[in-house]
Amino acid sequence: MKTLQLEPIHRSLEVATNTRLLDTLLAEQCPVMMACGGQGICATCHVYVAKGMESLSPLSQREERTLALITGARENSRLSCQCRVMGEGVEIVLPEGLYVESFNDLESLIGRRSKVPILHPRDGRILIQKGKIITRSSIMQLQDVDFSFSESDLAD
Ligand code: FES
Repeated sequence: MKTLQLEPIHRSLEVATNTRLLDTLLAEQCPVMMACGGQGICATCHVYVAKGMESLSPLSQREERTLALITGARENSRLSCQCRVMGEGVEIVLPEGLYVESFNDLESLIGRRSKVPILHPRDGRILIQKGKIITRSSIMQLQDVDFSFSESDLAD
């Protein structure tokens, strides 16, 4: 077993060695998703590693390539579907934001004030700023946004 710290929710966990990080985050109902099915080609499982990068499995080429496209990615970014907890002392910081997977998801938010940024699932760009009231007209401006993933995304 290995210890894992989740921030900013201040949760400390024991996880089995070699656990895929994303599985733990989903089990803990953290605000991450698996929009691409865990294939390393989207932004929805993106996290920051505050401590213990060396205790995670190494980056793959695909993960590096995807991280290069993600808005808000930093040197300590990882895709949680692509890394396994191998050692002690890992501290994960969850990025702020809510991912949407389709235009329909956006429509369902009309009339609400966004408490967090609403993010694109592929590259993590902000579709709706935090604090904005989500109106039909603001949503309609996003109707041409492409939410799909294609075979070419998987080419290494
Ligand atoms: S679930 Fe898509 S990159 Fe991790």
